[in-house]
Amino acid sequence: MSNPTSARPPAMVLVGVGGYLPERIVTNDDLSKVMDTSDEWIASRTGIRERRVAAEGQTSLHLAVEAGREALKATNDGRTDVDALVLATMTPDRLCPATAPDVAAELGLGHIPAFDVSAVCSGFVYAAATAQGLIAAGTAQRVLIIGTEVMSSFLNPEDRNTAVIFGDGAGAVVVRAGEPDEPGAFGPFDLGADGGGSDLITVNGFGGRTPPEPTRENTDDDYLFMAGREVYRQAIPAMAESSRVALAARGWELGDLDAVIGHQANVRILDAVCRELGIDTSISFVNLDKVGNTSGASIPLAMTHAHQQGFTTAGQRVLLTAFGAGLTWGSGTLIWPELPEMPA
Ligand code: COA
Repeated sequence: MSNPTSARPPAMVLVGVGGYLPERIVTNDDLSKVMDTSDEWIASRTGIRERRVAAEGQTSLHLAVEAGREALKATNDGRTDVDALVLATMTPDRLCPATAPDVAAELGLGHIPAFDVSAVCSGFVYAAATAQGLIAAGTAQRVLIIGTEVMSSFLNPEDRNTAVIFGDGAGAVVVRAGEPDEPGAFGPFDLGADGGGSDLITVNGFGGRTPPEPTRENTDDDYLFMAGREVYRQAIPAMAESSRVALAARGWELGDLDAVIGHQANVRILDAVCRELGIDTSISFVNLDKVGNTSGASIPLAMTHAHQQGFTTAGQRVLLTAFGAGLTWGSGTLIWPELPEMPA
């Protein structure tokens, strides 16, 4: 008779990806017409050339539903059902309730557990680690994980420190319970946080520190603030170290890696992380030139675009790594699976 306590918990296996970008494109030249900046400055400092901006009334819910629907209809096992939804966002439709139950209802997923994870630019990695826990514990067999952001609703249109960096979008992945070495299998995640840096990227309004007042007018607290240079400085060693930990947990060497899908904040950060790890920047996927920094949506959107563009192929060893407000960071590994072809 087998001993149930010695059985390995199921691994989390990727079976589908999907993404959605709002139609409106805002180029660097467009921004240089309304603020003191230039295409040259933005492109050379960040690698960003354009970003998408949601239409009036289009919220994180709407973007999440589109991305989630695409991922569910493009699974490699043809199944469209899931029994949990974990959603990463720093731009929820409302402070209460979470956005995930609305997304589940719109997608017709039934009364499955659905909740938001708040870890900003590391949100997707935290959400994936949470889904992995649900699967390992046997609470869920199949999970839809979505990162969705309408950053534009929290950007001060006059603040060139943030307005040039962030964009709107959503990405989604479908995962299922499986075996640790099969194609699609994720390894253990490395996660970390340092509240000592919590003031470096903030939206101060809408929380308990600034409770509603009937007469309150819009203030800087209602907009995203970022101490960009300090964040830049801390992001590189944190992502590199977290990557090393995730690789070691999987038993992989740096030289084993075929592709890196990092949080799309700044191409200089992505390149510096590769240099710090001693890996070639050519294996690091970049789509921030087209989408900017989409915070929690960044990695699942990049996974989708990497698949659509043939950057990732079945059997490759892939590293995911992110850093963001909190401060938070996280990394994970997966063996890229065979996925249905998706039009770009
Ligand atoms: N356009 C033109 N000039 C700008 C500008 C803009 N949008 N923003 C800042 N500048 C100016 C500054 O005023 C400063 O001018 P000065 O030298 O005359 O004082 C100069 O450019 C350099 O500013 P600085 O903020 O030091 O630039 P930087 O090289 O650090 O680049 C970021 C700024 C935001 C691109 C960079 O710090 C960064 O990418 N940080 C990390 C951001 C991030 O990843 N956030 C999300 C975390 S997940």
